[in-house]
Amino acid sequence: MIYSKINATGSYLPERILSNKDLEKSLDTTDEWIVSRTGIKERHIIGDDETTSDMAYKAALDALKSSTINPSEIDLIIVATTTPDKVFPSTACSVQNKLNIGESPAFDIQAVCSGFIYALSIADKFIKTGAKKNILVIGADAMSRITDYTDRSNAILWGDGAGAVILTATDKPGILSTHIHSEGKYESMLHVPRSNNPSKKDTIEMQGNQVFKMAVNTLDRIVDETLNANNLMKSDIDWLVPHQANIRILEATAKKLEMPMDKVVVTLDKHGNTSAASIPLALDYGVRSGKIKSGETILMEAFGGGFTWGSALIKY
Ligand code: ACO
Repeated sequence: MIYSKINATGSYLPERILSNKDLEKSLDTTDEWIVSRTGIKERHIIGDDETTSDMAYKAALDALKSSTINPSEIDLIIVATTTPDKVFPSTACSVQNKLNIGESPAFDIQAVCSGFIYALSIADKFIKTGAKKNILVIGADAMSRITDYTDRSNAILWGDGAGAVILTATDKPGILSTHIHSEGKYESMLHVPRSNNPSKKDTIEMQGNQVFKMAVNTLDRIVDETLNANNLMKSDIDWLVPHQANIRILEATAKKLEMPMDKVVVTLDKHGNTSAASIPLALDYGVRSGKIKSGETILMEAFGGGFTWGSALIKY
């Protein structure tokens, strides 16, 4: 039996930091409100000359540096993003060009904040069927490019960055299972409508309170689905590496798992919500900080626009 395993992780965060104190200067908000309602203290913002593929490429290089494979051995690239550089070609093709490798397939996945879980789920299947051996899976987003900085309920949430993993074929279980879902009828609760007006920036519109409630309920269900599929108990999970949307959503999932918060990898205080990048960034932080160790069982879960949601259970 062939399994896929995370061979290496990497990340990239742009240099510029936007703190809550900075936002206080232009918005009717306070650091105290933002921290107490979301847990976010600061976020990174992409440079004017930077693109999503630049961030994705740097995260990929970081992962490759700590991996056992050469760039030429990558036989598939999947980038999860909502903020591609261009309408086409895909951000994955731009990353491939920057890595100076070919002719492996490269494509993007659009599932907003669940994008990385979707990409991982697809990559896992390519490996398990024997079709590919080394897959570069990246989550990268420049959410600041689609954020209205005059809207206090949105401007406080989003950040930019990229995280990457290299998934490699092995004979021992790494990814135990993945679960992905969508429910398109909730489209208008969280979306970026197209204005078709070139002088207007298309920005995120969100019914925050409704999204919050749906996220908590849905993540509750995906935890059960994942544990049942693997015949595991809550106590079998060593780490929760969740999508970093709001500390109160993370706390609700930890409570569902009867898990103390020190077993939850939290980066949203420093990163904000980086959409598809948030889970691979948190995973990389968990690994590099020495929290996550080889052989431990990790539950990753996400909820986002669509609505989309999903989980991945892995043995690291
Ligand atoms: N500063 C001060 N006050 C604010 C701010 C702010 N930045 N933003 C909103 N408020 C006010 C509102 O205007 C409202 O005032 P009112 O009562 O006078 O009308 C009050 O605070 C309460 O507003 P709510 O929207 O009910 O506040 P809530 O506690 O729900 O927090 C938030 C808002 C942070 C957006 C929350 O709903 C949330 O995090 N929702 C989930 C959003 C999310 O995670 N989205 C992404 C998930 S999917 C993905 O990642 C794509």
